[in-house]
Amino acid sequence: MSPKLKKPASAQADKFDFYLASVQCPEADAEFFEEVYRAHTGRELRVMREDFCGTAALCAEWVRRHEDNQAIGVDLCAETLSWGEKHILSLLGDRRQNVVIHEETVLAPLEQKSQLTSAQNFSYNIFKTPEELLVYFKAAYQNLEEDGLFVIDMMGGTDAMCEDSQDRKITGAKKPDGTALPPFTYTWEQAAYNPITGDFLCHIHFTVKRGTKIQKAFTYDWRLWTLPEVRDLFLQAGFQTVEVYTEGWDEDSDDTDGLFEKREEFENEGTWIAYIVGKK
Ligand SMILES: C[S@@+](CC[C@H](N)C(=O)[O-])C[C@H]1O[C@@H](n2cnc3c(N)ncnc32)[C@H](O)[C@@H]1O
Repeated sequence: MSPKLKKPASAQADKFDFYLASVQCPEADAEFFEEVYRAHTGRELRVMREDFCGTAALCAEWVRRHEDNQAIGVDLCAETLSWGEKHILSLLGDRRQNVVIHEETVLAPLEQKSQLTSAQNFSYNIFKTPEELLVYFKAAYQNLEEDGLFVIDMMGGTDAMCEDSQDRKITGAKKPDGTALPPFTYTWEQAAYNPITGDFLCHIHFTVKRGTKIQKAFTYDWRLWTLPEVRDLFLQAGFQTVEVYTEGWDEDSDDTDGLFEKREEFENEGTWIAYIVGKK
């Protein structure tokens, strides 16, 4: 193709660009980790491990925030890791050396311990039995420094445990290198939920204006765990305390307020997101 006919950068966007722009918010996760770690230990968080790191967007955000920050990313998908290396980590300059990526299962013991390990976007739901999930939580425990924190997110609510499909239109988003993404629609499809087993099959689809559709860009064959189940398994894995943080409600906008606070109880809305924090 001659340079004149080269497609604009936005047209070369792929499923990972759309995923990053619609699903992840590494800045918000990183800010929460800093605050919760300081509150628990009185120290600054410097070594953050991202389990199921995918494109390592959170690792990149973490080392951008402070020159002494280090990130450890763990994921077993070579294709996703190499996309992240090319499109995200390569933009870090000198700070690239502050990120170590392991193409590995999250169950593997690593020599380098972290002060905080995170598992975001519900990735641990791939473990479908209590026995399997406990093995993972024990591995996370072992890979933490003494008094380290393990932070996972969780989705729940009355609308989570059913078949459903929700669209969200996204405009003005950018790729990691700052070039514009075309407006697109993100679709979260809960294709099947089995109340007996908790098996939960979900897909993400993207529709780009004027045509292109990426159907089943990502598929998740999960078990939808509940908060009490996960709390019990954290304690069985050895964590001393388990806390739950959820957002409050903003009456003006009739939506969540984006502020995660520690709670002992909250209303079971249609959908909610929580951080669960275990202390070693
Ligand atoms: C839902 S994506 C999460 C990506 C990213 N962390 C985020 O927050 O959006 C799940 C990721 O987990 C990875 N994965 C699945 N099973 C794994 C395992 N046993 N060990 C390490 N990574 C795994 C997949 O390759 C995929 O990149």
